[in-house]
Amino acid sequence: MLGLLSKYIRQHTKGIGRGYRQGFFLFMIWALLSACSHPEKPKERPLDPWAFRSVLDKKPRMLTLALDTACYAAYDLTTSRLYKLWKGGVTLEGTVYTNKKNIQPTSWGTPYIEKDLLPNRWTVLQNGEAIDFEIRHKGYVFRNGQITLQFEMVLGDGTIIQLHEKPEFIRDNQGSPGFSRTFLTRNVPENIAIGVGNADEVFYLRSNAESEWKAFFEPLPEQHPSALRDQYDHLGILWMENSDCYTCHEEKNRMVGPSFVDIADKYEKNREIYAQLGRKIIEGGSGIWGETPMNPHPDLSEGEIKTMLDYIFTFKTAVSREDRGQPVVQQTAVQEDLPLTPPKPGFGVPLEGVHPSYDLVTLHNDNFKPRVGALAFLPDGGLLVSTWDSMGAVYLLKGVEGNDPEKIEIKRIAKGLAEPLGLEVVDGDIYVLQKHELTKLVDTDGDDMIDEYQVVCDAWGVTDDFHEFAFGLLHKDDHFYITLSMAMRLMANERQHPDRGRTLKISKDGSFEALDYGLRTPNGIGEGVDGQIFVTDNQGQWLPGNKLIHVQPGAYNGMAWGLSEAEEKNPPAMVPPAIWLPDKEIGNSPSEPILMRDGPYKGQMLHGDVTNGGIKRDFIEKVNGVYQGAVFRFSQGFTAGVNRLAWGPDGALYVGEVGMVGGWSWKENQYGLEKIKYNGKSTFEMLAIRAKPGGFEIEFTEPLADRELAAEDIKVEQWWYLPTAAYGGPKMDHQNLMPAKVDISQDKKKIYLDIPGLKQEHVVYFRLAEDLQSADGQNLWSSEAWYTLNQIPSP
Ligand code: HEC
Repeated sequence: MLGLLSKYIRQHTKGIGRGYRQGFFLFMIWALLSACSHPEKPKERPLDPWAFRSVLDKKPRMLTLALDTACYAAYDLTTSRLYKLWKGGVTLEGTVYTNKKNIQPTSWGTPYIEKDLLPNRWTVLQNGEAIDFEIRHKGYVFRNGQITLQFEMVLGDGTIIQLHEKPEFIRDNQGSPGFSRTFLTRNVPENIAIGVGNADEVFYLRSNAESEWKAFFEPLPEQHPSALRDQYDHLGILWMENSDCYTCHEEKNRMVGPSFVDIADKYEKNREIYAQLGRKIIEGGSGIWGETPMNPHPDLSEGEIKTMLDYIFTFKTAVSREDRGQPVVQQTAVQEDLPLTPPKPGFGVPLEGVHPSYDLVTLHNDNFKPRVGALAFLPDGGLLVSTWDSMGAVYLLKGVEGNDPEKIEIKRIAKGLAEPLGLEVVDGDIYVLQKHELTKLVDTDGDDMIDEYQVVCDAWGVTDDFHEFAFGLLHKDDHFYITLSMAMRLMANERQHPDRGRTLKISKDGSFEALDYGLRTPNGIGEGVDGQIFVTDNQGQWLPGNKLIHVQPGAYNGMAWGLSEAEEKNPPAMVPPAIWLPDKEIGNSPSEPILMRDGPYKGQMLHGDVTNGGIKRDFIEKVNGVYQGAVFRFSQGFTAGVNRLAWGPDGALYVGEVGMVGGWSWKENQYGLEKIKYNGKSTFEMLAIRAKPGGFEIEFTEPLADRELAAEDIKVEQWWYLPTAAYGGPKMDHQNLMPAKVDISQDKKKIYLDIPGLKQEHVVYFRLAEDLQSADGQNLWSSEAWYTLNQIPSP
């Protein structure tokens, strides 16, 4: 056997000795193993989760393995290659780790093998000649506390070779650290040899059998994360990340506050201005850029502020692509109206309580505080909850149908997922949507723990941008549907990846088709009326309001960042949303839409909102072939902002909540899992608003009390939205309308309004008199509605 082995090595490698060259390797062993020669006892790992997905070192689709305190390994799953082997660790920073936008995890420490010498290039020889092939990452499996990565090599003639790699940290007899890679190949044809190596040497794997590569290294001294400041091009970025500046400011785009480009362009860079702006940052204030105030920052030192301003002023000459040639838009103000009574919950401002027709049960507790990324039910009633946090976990909850949170069994069944924002159960199988991959989770041994993470689709385009979320997950007619948000931090010379800002339809074979384009942050997809797919989108650049969108093939949804250079000069017309969700009024970051199953609202839709909080109700109708309708306030009273909704087998609506302190939250709350169940009590409110030729019909849940209705009892406004490159957008031609005629139906449940001056493609806002009552003496739960009048029906 040994003779055979050395002959094999002489034949197929250029010699093992070369590894000594740079003094890196103590020695290297190339062993051919027979299968099952490796009894393993589970290892202690230095991190939980020890195998995790993330962006790492500005590379997307990375898998990091914290094998030992002395050894980390990372694989680039885009190229299916070992990326780095090092002693040190990973700085876990970014939204899910430290509530900081813009940044992502980075590795620190010292590599055991220099980049150039890392044996990470795959080679395929056919009769001794190198041939072209494709290598794909297929997932990984956990067994006995170890991980095995699974790859597939596809040869030109269609042959598919399975290639498994089990990496592990090892030590030799002297205690020197080492790295072992156990390979297993399957379906390798006779004339084919598979190798892995660097530019100098290649190690050939045994065909259709196991082989092991081992290397031992000089021990490295203890490692420490480099001082944070070394990781930054400019210290100002570090100080601003450590403070809250990026919550409201972006470099090129106006958000809550002005962009750095705008600030740098407005002011001279001199001592007086530094003093003036420094005071403003410390004290906060408004009035220079608009009415929104900046919060005070009394804890910042003079030095920190100077460094931040130095950084802001580096943007002085940089003019972003989006800002070029942007028309200046004047907002048209609505003419002043009779003063309204001060707003109270549901009447001009958000509701405060839970909808009276529903009872709320809290399911989270002190030991389980999920930042819910997604929800789904197993056929046996078990609730799956994925978490948008540093654990990237999926939990299985048993017993949620009872109303006793104490009796719920909670088990973490999967972890190490990158921002899992979608879950679906299809024929009992669990699918989870990560930032960069749709993954099937498999429990192979029936212990309710996931041991296999199988790639279903990872074909869509990604960069390292923190804002490139994948939202989902919907399964319908044998396909998966997801949405992809746009990158936020591209440099002026970079373009969005063409797959961003789209709804994707993914087939079981992993191929996908893009249905529409021009979405911004579409954090919600679901099946709505008529079995149609709806997504929600967040206001921001090019989105003057939040939206509920009917997904239509080929539709352009208005966010211009993803347009090609040619299109950008002459942008296509935006397909209007089914419903505009005016910012701060009835939305701020809408999330998952879902079809209503109960009560008088059956057949309507609901959607959550992360920063506006609560759940909103959507009545949708089709006019001239186009979906449109009204959004109503529905329920508040949840612990945190609402991210995901799912109907449980017990008929309750499960509400998954999330928040990130510093911008993406409702009242700074970060977690929550609750359910609401219909209790049969009636709530007096508008049930539906239907467009009619020249007016509207408003239907109520209960007959109105006997009372004359005058035009003044129904306040109506209309406006339209102009998408601009700026954050949010102006209401255009904003005006008050006066109903010319108000009629009440015989059954007192409907009123008919003739409203002269209504215009298509406008938002129509309704606010009913506060003292309107039902025949049984109820007051209105909420008096407002926003109807999106895409089409006016013809008589
Ligand atoms: C809560 C949101 C928010 C946060 C957090 C925030 N800003 Fe601002 N910032 C604003 C707004 C809004 C304005 C515009 C104020 C105005 O119109 O006068 C502004 C304006 C500014 C200006 C221009 C001031 C002027 O008078 O022209 C600077 C400089 C600035 N911010 C820097 C910072 C820095 C540095 C931080 C972090 C330490 C920060 N901001 C954090 C919202 C914010």
